[in-house]
Amino acid sequence: MPFVEKLIINGGRRLTGDVQVAGGKNTSLPILSAALLCDEPVCVDNIPDIEDVHTLLELLRGLGALAQVSGHSVMIDPTRLHTTQPSSDLCKKMRGSYYLLGALLGKAGQGSIPYPGGCDLGARPIDQHLKGFRALGVEIDDRFGWVDAKAASLNGSEIFFDLVTVGGTINVMLAAARAKGSTVIYNAAKEPHVVDTANFLNSMGARVRGAGTDVIRIRGVDRLHASTYTVIPDQIETGTLMIAAAATQGDVAIHGCIPAHMESLTAKLLEIGVRVDEADDVIRIRSAGGHRAVNIKTLAYPGFPTDLQSPMSALLTTAVGTSIITETIFDKRFRHLHEMVRMGARARISDWTSVIEGMPHLTGAPVTASDLRAGAALVIAGLMAGGNTEISNPQHIDRGYEKLETRLRSLGADIQRVAADS
Ligand code: EPU
Repeated sequence: MPFVEKLIINGGRRLTGDVQVAGGKNTSLPILSAALLCDEPVCVDNIPDIEDVHTLLELLRGLGALAQVSGHSVMIDPTRLHTTQPSSDLCKKMRGSYYLLGALLGKAGQGSIPYPGGCDLGARPIDQHLKGFRALGVEIDDRFGWVDAKAASLNGSEIFFDLVTVGGTINVMLAAARAKGSTVIYNAAKEPHVVDTANFLNSMGARVRGAGTDVIRIRGVDRLHASTYTVIPDQIETGTLMIAAAATQGDVAIHGCIPAHMESLTAKLLEIGVRVDEADDVIRIRSAGGHRAVNIKTLAYPGFPTDLQSPMSALLTTAVGTSIITETIFDKRFRHLHEMVRMGARARISDWTSVIEGMPHLTGAPVTASDLRAGAALVIAGLMAGGNTEISNPQHIDRGYEKLETRLRSLGADIQRVAADS
């Protein structure tokens, strides 16, 4: 039986001090998958030590790749793959396993994966990924929760996505990197992890242009060579720490981040009444409380990220006035608010919109993390609340944040991980 744990937070303490941001989760997953495309070993630095990365490394090893970890560096030797069908059980543990399909198509012209798992945020189809692969000449048998994909020849093509999809954009980019001829992706996602993956591919000799705009052009190449690459810092972890600092009326300097990636959040924090100072790769957050309510609408980059909607709603539970949060990306992303209501938050919650009436304070209560960012949001709510908050299912948090509670403790938080029955 798996070891069951919970987090216990004794809230009401200001966070103060300095903290370092880890490498990006949603950048590391496509980049480690893209390493499969290479004809030689590659080294990737700044990989976060998180559960989703551990799962992906196991998946890569299962395909026959060598994956050696040394601290935050990972060496992948993809030269001796012996299967194009990754472990079904492992794929179902994480969303990012869908990147293996794009990489296997680019490398071997075929791949077979189950529908990916990961956070349950409502319907998360992959029809756009498959539409992109079909445009490249891939035959797809998509039945009973499995995708079998095979291409006699992978040929460049033009793809217009029906909606902006981060996973779809990156997955097609991976396959197209080694297709014959040119591919153009229209209505492409512009997230920092799309740009980082393109930069990694280019570091191996791929020809990807335009990443970061909504038109990406890829000229397929015959081979990709060895590379050493460093992934960018985690945009969402940076934002989570910024919000946690503000929510506890703290004074925290977040090091090793990219302030330009945080503009939509920074603008909202300033509107709320939080002080934000930036210098090179440091963001300092200072707050004396008295936060004002604001409206948030989640959008694709450079809009406000859906992944920061949950942490931000924790902060807004005690802002003065009424905040309206409109979620436009995922239809089940307000579960954390139901939990915060147990802590005294006042919120009217529906699928796409929630209205939060700010209360003077939250009170600790037993709550359950339903997904990764909901878990992070509940940690922030627990740090803000008076008394003890017990968070069940903290393993969701471990999928995407490296040693979150250790780092929060170093900033003065009283947060412990204990066995669930203690
Ligand atoms: N969509 C489709 N068809 C597709 C693909 C997407 O309808 O083929 C829809 C989705 O259902 C959603 C929207 O398009 O409504 C956007 O989805 P997108 O493909 O951009 O998201 P994703 O690739 O499934 C990644 C991150 C998420 C992050 C979103 C949005 C990874 C592994 N996951 O998901 O991260 O919320 O982009 O930025 O990179 C997280 O880290 O907690 C997380 C959930």
